[in-house]
Amino acid sequence: MKNLFLLFIAFVSAPYGAFSQEAFKITHGPYLQALGETGVNIVWTTNKKAVAWVEIAPADGTHFYERERPKVFAANDGIKTESTVHNVRIDGLQPNTKYRYRVYTQEVLSHESYIIKYGGIAASEVYRTELPVFKTHDPKAERISFAVINDMHQQNDKIRQLLGQVNWADNQLVFFNGDMQNNSRNEAQIFNSFMDTADSIFADRIPMYYARGNHETRGEFAGQFSQYFPTETGKLYYLLRTGPICFVVLDTGEDKPDSDIEYSGIADYDAYRSRQAAWLKEALQRPEYRDAPYKVVIAHIPPFGGWHGEKEVAEKFVPLLNEAGAQIMLSGHLHRNVKRMPESGSAWRFPVLVNSNSSIIKATADRRQLQIEVFDLAGKKIDAVTVQPSR
Ligand SMILES: [Fe+2]
Repeated sequence: MKNLFLLFIAFVSAPYGAFSQEAFKITHGPYLQALGETGVNIVWTTNKKAVAWVEIAPADGTHFYERERPKVFAANDGIKTESTVHNVRIDGLQPNTKYRYRVYTQEVLSHESYIIKYGGIAASEVYRTELPVFKTHDPKAERISFAVINDMHQQNDKIRQLLGQVNWADNQLVFFNGDMQNNSRNEAQIFNSFMDTADSIFADRIPMYYARGNHETRGEFAGQFSQYFPTETGKLYYLLRTGPICFVVLDTGEDKPDSDIEYSGIADYDAYRSRQAAWLKEALQRPEYRDAPYKVVIAHIPPFGGWHGEKEVAEKFVPLLNEAGAQIMLSGHLHRNVKRMPESGSAWRFPVLVNSNSSIIKATADRRQLQIEVFDLAGKKIDAVTVQPSR
């Protein structure tokens, strides 16, 4: 009987024992966020709570082990962050310069009063593999290429098919223009839905910038969005100047009125869009926008269609963008390809190009023009818009 009892204890405790002994490891990433001329965020996750840092080195041909590389820690108000989501902001980089980076995490076993016990280390492989290399933006660049996908709704095959059309040797940035997920319920969904695929294709070395869609706002994990997709300002709307283009990235929020039954009383997007409009009015006065030869707006919900969110975009953002000479708005949300030029009576005085859920925008700006082209899943060009430099 006693033996049977011990066998029972061994059996019921086995799953817990197996789980508790899982090796400390990196689970997702690393990937780049908020890359600018002199800084970048690097994000990754681990299966257990840890402190984290990045070792950064120029991509100058020296061996990574040639010397001690500078360490930049994940920290907040002077305290190293203990988390499973690691976000290291690196500033003070040189513009138009290539860097290598190695991510490093050390498990925190316990933290009681003054005593912290550390566990194992999980870091990027350096000895046999090449570390990822990224290049900071060049303010003097005359030529820039970028790609935009949106409304993938967790379809990794489509993401692979569309991003497979990008010439990565000549593409400096990628925008995810919203609704990459159906909703946001946990961390695993972010990575299983699209982010692991993005990382395997480009996101550890080519920066991805996110314009949040309405589906990313839904679900009990939606409030964690900026932990995984940080921006330089901490807001989900921002200006991004790279070479001749100033991108105005907006967060258009939800599509129905805030009181809609679907939102269960959790939506507050009218006030959010009003605050964003106040920011936009000021931001459009900045030299990085005013002096840019090309002024491109990235916004998930377009300013037409008659739904509340669309009307809000038309009423709160578009007049400011008209006034400031915005040259094109790239949108999604509708799951079809639409091009609306400025029309008599239309709110917008620039073309609005809506990319479908089965196409990719590829664009190149140079001194002569900004050429924006749309390609379907098979790689066939289905539309194009040419923008002339504003100055
Ligand atoms: Fe949408």
